[in-house]
Amino acid sequence: MSNSARIAHVGIAVPDLESALGFYRNVLGLTPLPTEEADGAAIASLPFGDAQVELLAPRTPDGPIARFLARRGPGIHHICYRVDDLEAALDACRKHGYRLIDEAPRPGAGGHRIAFVHPKATSGILLELTE
Ligand code: CO
Repeated sequence: MSNSARIAHVGIAVPDLESALGFYRNVLGLTPLPTEEADGAAIASLPFGDAQVELLAPRTPDGPIARFLARRGPGIHHICYRVDDLEAALDACRKHGYRLIDEAPRPGAGGHRIAFVHPKATSGILLELTE
């Protein structure tokens, strides 16, 4: 639908934010943006040019990141694609039968409008869409 889709960020689930940040600080020399909270997780965003890496650490034992860590251990939790028009992308998902987790855009980290597509619809990768 869009020819300007980009990778917005990659979300990585980690048990502990500070220890995971060590690599980014000490090896890559990156400074995280101030830690935010969303969906029961603390989020440290690291700038990689146009894109970011988001380290996601659980803040509640029953949140999605805590459940992911318990089930699969640390690792890539989701990829976020930036599209021109989020509503149009969600309409296209519905039209083509890709199951949505969020039927309508909602606020995510950084105040951006986001929506998640179900991993069953997208080759096992949890996809987040944003504008
Ligand atoms: Co995300």
